[in-house]
Amino acid sequence: MVIKKIKLKNYRNYDDLEIALNEKLNIIIGKNAQGKTNILESIYVLSLTKSYLNINDKNLIKLGNNYSILEAETILNNIPKKFKILINDNGKKVIINGREIKKLSEYISNLKVVIFSPENIRMIRDGPSVRRKFLNMELSQISPLYVRLLMDYNNIIRQKNEYLKLDKINIEYLKILNKKIAELSVNIYIYRKEFIDKLCNFIDNIYYKIMGIQGLRIKYISNIDYFEDKSMMIAKYTEKLEKYLEKEILYKVSLIGPQRDDFIFVLNDKNISLYGSQGQLRSVILSLKLSEIELIKNECNEDPILLLDDIFSELDIEKKNNLINYINDNTQTIITTTDINMIDEKLVKKASIFEINDGKLFPGK
Ligand SMILES: Nc1ncnc2c1ncn2[C@@H]1O[C@H](COP(=O)(O)OP(=O)(O)OP(=O)(O)O)[C@@H](O)[C@H]1O
Ligand SMILES: [Mg+2]
Repeated sequence: MVIKKIKLKNYRNYDDLEIALNEKLNIIIGKNAQGKTNILESIYVLSLTKSYLNINDKNLIKLGNNYSILEAETILNNIPKKFKILINDNGKKVIINGREIKKLSEYISNLKVVIFSPENIRMIRDGPSVRRKFLNMELSQISPLYVRLLMDYNNIIRQKNEYLKLDKINIEYLKILNKKIAELSVNIYIYRKEFIDKLCNFIDNIYYKIMGIQGLRIKYISNIDYFEDKSMMIAKYTEKLEKYLEKEILYKVSLIGPQRDDFIFVLNDKNISLYGSQGQLRSVILSLKLSEIELIKNECNEDPILLLDDIFSELDIEKKNNLINYINDNTQTIITTTDINMIDEKLVKKASIFEINDGKLFPGK
């Protein structure tokens, strides 16, 4: 997919922004705090209906206003499509081609993006919830069924947790809930495992191309034990859930399940979060994002939009060049930078350049 135009109204530090993008490479330049990241974030919001930053939708509305409108005009296989998101005090509406989409799950997989931002380093340094969020967001882009599954799972876990808080507990009722929970959990596990396995197929090679080191893997960590036979997995996991019942009643909360899943990056048998250098961690995340592009191309037969926030300032020249060689012409890419000299001339020559100053756009060359 390619974005032809973005329009923002009362979004972050923008009153009104209209930006016509190049189908290939776009470079947004500007000093600190002028609104470069805000543009990339708006594209992410248009894709996934919420920011990748852990914030409330209301923070997206320009201070002093009570609504915000985001729009994208796109083209996929010669077919134009318009995406629109309205955010106000009452919540948000998502619209495709003028028609409101009531279920977010039906909206989310339409406009696919992959973002690399300095913020992503948290995926290695922070606790598991950041990594689970990554799994959930990325799987949502690929599969509307996963979104439904996750919603169903979250609902039933909420139901179970509320029940566990009551004074009188009926074990048989909890067992019935657990049966359904086991089935949903195993289905979530299968989606996540396949996703991680597929990323693993790409990441080693991509990391090698950027860093020159082989042996990068992603290891999925779950309470659920893997068996080839799915019904066996469900049966074994149901047993496990039963073993935890007594403890769960004591603590009044569900203790195991996909809501505790995690994954780690392993470089030649070493956990990279414990041993990796800063530059290594960045390159790992970058390789992860580039793997995701390959995965989306394979799974969905379309190119996602690549958003690279301030990436070149974080890499040495050699890695920068490796990355430039990697970015291919078919993937529409938007890069932000404070300094155009950070970016290789070859790239600058073929790009559309936009300058941002205090929430206003000044088209470059
Ligand atoms: N809801 C909002 N209303 C008004 N202004 C906002 C809002 N949210 C963020 N801003 C402003 O947007 C600006 C930051 O924009 P952004 O993060 O895009 O900057 P940037 O150009 O990427 O800077 P850097 O180079 O430092 O990364 C800040 O000045 C901030 O105060
Ligand atoms: Mg920024």
